[in-house]
Amino acid sequence: MKTASVSNIRINTIKIKPFKDQKPGTSGLRKTVKQFQVLDYLQAFIQSIFNSQAELEGATLILGGDGRYFNREAVQIILRMATANGVGKIILGQAGILSTPAASHLITKYEALGGIILSASHNAGGPLGDFGVKFDTANGGPAPESLTDEIFIISSNLREYKIIDISPVPMDKIGQYKLGNMVIEVIDAVEDYSKLMSEIFNFDKISRLLTSSDFSMCFDAMHAVTGPYATSILEDQLGARQGSVIRGRPLPNFGGAHPDPNLVHAEQLVETMYREEGAPNFGAASDGDGDRNMIMGDYFFVTPSDSLAIMTANAHLIPAYSKGLKGVARSMPTSEAVDKVAEKMGLNCFETPTGWKFFSNLLDADQITLCGEESFGTGSSHVNEKDGLWAVLFWLNILAERQDSVEHIVRQHWAEYGRNYYTRHDYEKLPFKSAESLFNNLHDNINQLSQKPFNQHTIATADSFTYIDPIDNSISENQGVRIIFDDSSRIIFRLSGTGTEGATLRVYIEKYVTDLAQFELDTQDALKSLIQTAESIADIKGYTGRTEPTVIT
Ligand code: G1P
Ligand code: ZN
Repeated sequence: MKTASVSNIRINTIKIKPFKDQKPGTSGLRKTVKQFQVLDYLQAFIQSIFNSQAELEGATLILGGDGRYFNREAVQIILRMATANGVGKIILGQAGILSTPAASHLITKYEALGGIILSASHNAGGPLGDFGVKFDTANGGPAPESLTDEIFIISSNLREYKIIDISPVPMDKIGQYKLGNMVIEVIDAVEDYSKLMSEIFNFDKISRLLTSSDFSMCFDAMHAVTGPYATSILEDQLGARQGSVIRGRPLPNFGGAHPDPNLVHAEQLVETMYREEGAPNFGAASDGDGDRNMIMGDYFFVTPSDSLAIMTANAHLIPAYSKGLKGVARSMPTSEAVDKVAEKMGLNCFETPTGWKFFSNLLDADQITLCGEESFGTGSSHVNEKDGLWAVLFWLNILAERQDSVEHIVRQHWAEYGRNYYTRHDYEKLPFKSAESLFNNLHDNINQLSQKPFNQHTIATADSFTYIDPIDNSISENQGVRIIFDDSSRIIFRLSGTGTEGATLRVYIEKYVTDLAQFELDTQDALKSLIQTAESIADIKGYTGRTEPTVIT
């Protein structure tokens, strides 16, 4: 260990053996808490991020996380390393808390070099759960692949990191502190974000809706980061009844649950919304770090793909978007519902690979205003990340303007644009080898699939999705196997890039219908023969031994 000093604070240089497994996935480096607790593991990744930044000296960084287990320890380590690495200022969410969209907003608002967000998003927390580190760049968006690749190469060769040995560093009380030459500014995590929301939406109208006697809502914060944001904005500022926000207190283990807003994991909300009588008019949930959203009505679930389409069709009702949209984008496996709206509105609609980072270039180049993914993520040009609470406010603003129910709005939408039945089947915790063989087989057979009949379906095209970024022409290959049928139905196969245990196979299935008589089917029934086709094309049972998915959304 070597030492130097800044303003009488000793900087230690710690020698390490390089870690070879710090490859960021779909959304940052995600590993088990146990892995992050391995001696020097977190430090090595943080040093690799720092080493990738030529302008780090004297720069401002934003720091915060979703409050999960190990969040506080990680903040302490990062503050000590930032000082040792010459960072000028860290703007830190109070108690180390910041939602992903709030952090993104702070990066651009305070013109920071970037931000470090501590989160494993919707993955379970607690000592036996997951932890993660994401780096967002100066545009407030996730580090692009070129940068995450560079960070990975740096980490694979990293032999030392720098840290000071003073601890603990202040993080709970709002105010400015000095640590060596670095300033730490601890800020209220909610304030800037809630101001931004009030500039986008019509808070007066939403407030009138939320305080009217015949309207009620339920927001499930899943004991994760949106608790303080939702309580402050929905209840304190907009007047939703107290108790409208449930599971509002962030807990390091998310109360033992999975902070993933879907029909399986947000079961308390789902039970409330599917009550025979007296269900709230509007229900919503957000995930661990506050970037996902699930939208429900009284006895009604809105698929994320439909939600994006409906938001696009109704964007003129929202003050910030009333002058029109530049364009829209969806990830490739997301249903084509938004394409139909874009077509009618004369908007460009981009199809990107899975992962928010692919929207960033389009947002920066002003090519799109709204974008979203089937995985409960929706966002806009207001920040360069997806944003859960923003989507909730968007829906509330639509409801306030249209004075209509969620279900009726969706049904009217289908009547006008047709309905895209949609489901995703996940096969989790597969042995890597089986997942790999299944994919090799799919790739090998891709060329022979075209024009082949399967059940009553005929395949029109089959390929492995390659994305050429229209802004910087960068190429991303192998972004999922696409099978498109002659009636525009689609089956897509991908492997997850966010899991920490084995491989997860995702199968996305979609069918478009315009016949009103066919709108009332149960989704799994409507897609039954396509689901069987998917299982047989990929021979899921043969390769994995599984006869059914682990999670259906
Ligand atoms: C999943 C989602 C993807 C989302 C990502 C981060 O990634 O499918 O849409 O952007 O989480 O929230 P995956 O595990 O599929 O790689
Ligand atoms: Zn998330």
